[in-house]
Amino acid sequence: MILELEDIRMSYTNARKEVFNLLNGVNLSVESGKVTALIGGNGAGKTTLFNIISGFERGFSGHVRLGGRDISRLPAYRISTMGLGRLFQGRQLMADLTLMENMKIASDDIMGESPLDCFFRTKRVRCSENDKERRAVEILTKVFGHDNKYLGMLDHKASEFSYGEQRLIAMARLLMGNDRLLLLDEPTSGVNPRYNDAFRTIIRDMVEQDGQTVLLIEHNMNFVRSVADICHYLSDGKIIKSGSTADVLDDLEIRKNYLGL
Ligand SMILES: Nc1ncnc2c1ncn2[C@@H]1O[C@H](COP(=O)(O)OP(=O)(O)OP(=O)(O)O)[C@@H](O)[C@H]1O
Ligand SMILES: [Mg+2]
Repeated sequence: MILELEDIRMSYTNARKEVFNLLNGVNLSVESGKVTALIGGNGAGKTTLFNIISGFERGFSGHVRLGGRDISRLPAYRISTMGLGRLFQGRQLMADLTLMENMKIASDDIMGESPLDCFFRTKRVRCSENDKERRAVEILTKVFGHDNKYLGMLDHKASEFSYGEQRLIAMARLLMGNDRLLLLDEPTSGVNPRYNDAFRTIIRDMVEQDGQTVLLIEHNMNFVRSVADICHYLSDGKIIKSGSTADVLDDLEIRKNYLGL
C-alpha cells in the first residue's frame, strides 16, 4: 500500500461554539499502480482528507502513512518533496507567472534531501532550463494535440486563461513532476466534456506507463466508472463502502443516498 489512513478523526467548532464531527475514524488504503476514486456528498470531508494527507490540515487525530512512513502532521512542503503531487479544487495556477513558468515550477530540482525522501520519487528530477522547456512543450502537445493554441501562448500570464483552461493546464503541469502519488481533486470539474477522454488517457498513462498511483475525488460518475479501478464512498465521516468501482457505484444504498437514483 502506498498510502494508508488509520482512524482519522477531525472535528471543528463553528462561530456559535458548536462542535461538528467531520471525520469519525476514516480507514483507507491506496494500492500502488491503481486509480482509486473517493466519492461522497458535498461537504462530506473529501477535500479535508486530501488536506490532511498533504499536510495542509494538521488538527486531526490518527495516522497517515506514505510508503510505510508516518507523515502525519509533517508540514506540507516536506510532504511534497516526498513524491506527493496534488491537483487542487478550483483555480490554482500562479496568476502572475506565464504559462511556461507555471509548467517549469512543477519540475523544480530537488536538492539536499535525505535518501529516504528520494526513495519516494520515481526519478530524481534534475535538469536544465532547456530540458524543462522541451519537456513542457512535449507535455502540452501530448495533452492538447499538435498545433494547439497554448504552444503559441507560452509567454502569456496564467491570469489571461479562462478557469477551465487553467484547470487543463494545471493537470498538464502535474506531468512535469515525477510524483509517486497524485491526489486529484475533481479533475473534470469546470472543464469542457470533450476533454474527459484526454483526462482519462492522462490518468491511465500515469498509472500504466509511468508507474504512478492516483487517488482522485470526482462527482462525475461516468468519469469515475471509466477511469477508476477501486472506489471508496465517504459518508457520515467514515468510509462505508469500498471495492471495485462497479460494485460501489451499483450499491443500492449509494445509488439512493448519493446518486439520488
Ligand atoms: N476548520 C474548519 N472550520 C469550519 N468548517 C470546516 C473546517 N474544516 C471543514 N469544515 C467544513 O467541513 C465540511 C467538509 O468540507 P470539504 O471541503 O472537505 O468537503 P468535500 O467533501 O470536499 O465537499 P465538495 O464535494 O463539495 O468539494 C464543509 O462543510 C466545511 O465547511
Ligand atoms: Mg471538495
